[in-house]
Amino acid sequence: MANPAHISVLAAPYIEALCANKDGRYIDATFGRGGHTRLMLNKLSENAKVLGLDRDPDAIIAGQALMKEDIRFVVAYTDFAGIQAAAEQQGWSAVDGIGFDLGVSSPQLDQAERGFSFMQEGPLDMRMDFDAGQPLMKKLERISESELTKIIREYGGEKFAGRIARSILERLREGKLNTTRDLEDVCFHATPKKMRHGHIHPATRTFQALRIWVNDEMNQIDEAITMAMKLLKAGGRLAVISFHSGEDRRVRDLIEKQVHGCLCPREFPMCVCGFKPTMRWVQKKPVRASEAEIEANPRSRSAMLRVAEKLAEPC
Ligand SMILES: C[S@@+](CC[C@H](N)C(=O)[O-])C[C@H]1O[C@@H](n2cnc3c(N)ncnc32)[C@H](O)[C@@H]1O
Repeated sequence: MANPAHISVLAAPYIEALCANKDGRYIDATFGRGGHTRLMLNKLSENAKVLGLDRDPDAIIAGQALMKEDIRFVVAYTDFAGIQAAAEQQGWSAVDGIGFDLGVSSPQLDQAERGFSFMQEGPLDMRMDFDAGQPLMKKLERISESELTKIIREYGGEKFAGRIARSILERLREGKLNTTRDLEDVCFHATPKKMRHGHIHPATRTFQALRIWVNDEMNQIDEAITMAMKLLKAGGRLAVISFHSGEDRRVRDLIEKQVHGCLCPREFPMCVCGFKPTMRWVQKKPVRASEAEIEANPRSRSAMLRVAEKLAEPC
């Protein structure tokens, strides 16, 4: 299938919240096809700099093309663990803003050969970085039923995780689980008949869960948000768009810890940990897409934006 453009979600509030200093240095940690990056560059002055990061080699090719168009931009091929190293490579010890638009891009979903979509026949892969790690098929060959159930339940919020996990592994043993369509079929038939025709396809949650597992997305988020908060200069902004509640909760809790400061148990009469707040919420309640945006881009329906700012000094 062709490689359609990715429509950037929550673009206006995201860029507005993130780019508070027109001359600043910014990191777009999820470059994708550069939709948000271009909007950042439009808003920023000619003195500003933007570093785009992605773990997907195809995104890096798109980033290299943008580097030729705009000297304020540079792209680096890394996962979230490499954020600090990538910033240091630019000679940056602190930055004015770091943005994350988590999950997968439309081009990734729409390329059947990447194996992210149950709408098209593709290999059981799902790696964002197709040059690293193990594809879904290899990982399934080594997992137990109870572990797989846990993944589908926790990362997908799937009620029928146990039945689906059992069916997946049965089909695999029979040698009949080879493509995304086979996996879709398993999810469909493992879902009770009366639940098969709801507003979302019965394979949606399982595909999401398996993608999160293959790409170790939850651990990547922990590492990314923690490192990003350290990398910000005083007044610098962290803006994060998540697409499901597990992801959003993780982001919220990591930021909240830095906003709250003290880690002492509630029953302690006074603070003995000495841990001071380092961040403040700019947007604690998540910003959601408007009806108009959802109509134009249904992918934005589940998007949630949270924004926080680094404090000048622990207070
Ligand atoms: C939703 S898309 C970003 C779209 C982009 N904001 C735009 O407007 O074009 C998410 C991108 O982040 C990348 N990504 C997701 N998790 C990552 C990680 N842990 N490390 C590096 N890149 C990641 C994906 O490969 C994908 O290209």
